[in-house]
Amino acid sequence: MSNPSLLILPGDGIGPEVMAEVRRIIDWFGDRRGLRFDVSEDLVGGAAWDVHGTPLTDATMAKAQAVDAVLLGAVGGPKYDTLDFAVKPERGLLRLRKEMDLYANLRPAQCFDALADFSSLKREVVAGLDIMIVRELTSGVYFGEPRGIFTEGGARVGINTQRYTEGEIARVARSAFELARRRRNRVCSMEKANVMESGVLWRQVVQEVHDAEYPDVELSHMYADAGAMQLTRWPKQFDVIVTDNLFGDLLSDLAAMLTGSLGMLPSASLGAPMENGRPKALYEPVHGSAPDIAGQGKANPCACILSFAMALRYSFDQGGEADRLERAVQAVLDRGIRTADLMQKEGGRPVGTRAMGDAVLAALEASL
Ligand code: IPM
Ligand code: MG
Repeated sequence: MSNPSLLILPGDGIGPEVMAEVRRIIDWFGDRRGLRFDVSEDLVGGAAWDVHGTPLTDATMAKAQAVDAVLLGAVGGPKYDTLDFAVKPERGLLRLRKEMDLYANLRPAQCFDALADFSSLKREVVAGLDIMIVRELTSGVYFGEPRGIFTEGGARVGINTQRYTEGEIARVARSAFELARRRRNRVCSMEKANVMESGVLWRQVVQEVHDAEYPDVELSHMYADAGAMQLTRWPKQFDVIVTDNLFGDLLSDLAAMLTGSLGMLPSASLGAPMENGRPKALYEPVHGSAPDIAGQGKANPCACILSFAMALRYSFDQGGEADRLERAVQAVLDRGIRTADLMQKEGGRPVGTRAMGDAVLAALEASL
């Protein structure tokens, strides 16, 4: 049997630096756990635009479609801010999501105990926090037509369209219910059914899928604005939150900040099962390309490393090895080893990207 295949797209800014550490982790699993991957690497975002004049070539897109999982670093940077919308680095990422049909974006917000004091909220509000935001990723206002800037009666008008079919809602709702069954069995669905028809339909379809297929899961509904408020008031009331593309973009950033450490948060974007039974999948850290610290060896590689842990769990059925990697990261934090982003308050010397990778590798070794 051939090894599972991974396409690595380091992208821009700190992407290449943090991905270099992930590659060492991948090699460790090959050498020490017999989990070998066929790894290939390619360009995305500004890095692809620099070479090819497009943020994602057709050839790279085809590779992404063919592999078992894609691992992405980050895209974007000030150098590309003035580019035409159609060739901005972000379009490369959006094309991957859309053409791979990665409709379920899993964004865990977990508060590592060693980092609870970094949150802007009180320790007791966030310590032990473990919630999962499931964001619809291939539809809604991000992709709805018509869209554009038009002229009406001599004045410009900017238009985007929020559009959801019931099939699109039902499939992401199923992802959320399935996840909840493996967690604390609760789903809260968020929309704006008080002002948007798409929200009314969203609420109906989520309820229908629940009643027909997942009556054992506890389901509640919340308006997304109230959801934002509840997330900051008492986030531990939530287990799984399912919401649309735009609300999910906002709420997942909010939830990420609760944990106090954007540099720690991974994500998985999953689509329908392929022929081999594995879901189409792309894994990426929630943080961006951080151009201000790019190239300095300071970036925290943990979010990207934990994204690989999600790949082990959701693509390769290696939950035990994913646990091992997550525990290794936790052990490093417990020992007080910190990159600069995790050092707002106390003194002490931060370690760099490479040293953080070394520490995780040492913790992996110690786990054997
Ligand atoms: C995210 C990002 C993206 C989004 C950008 C980079 C296009 O904010 O993944 O949350 O808006 O979806
Ligand atoms: Mg975002």
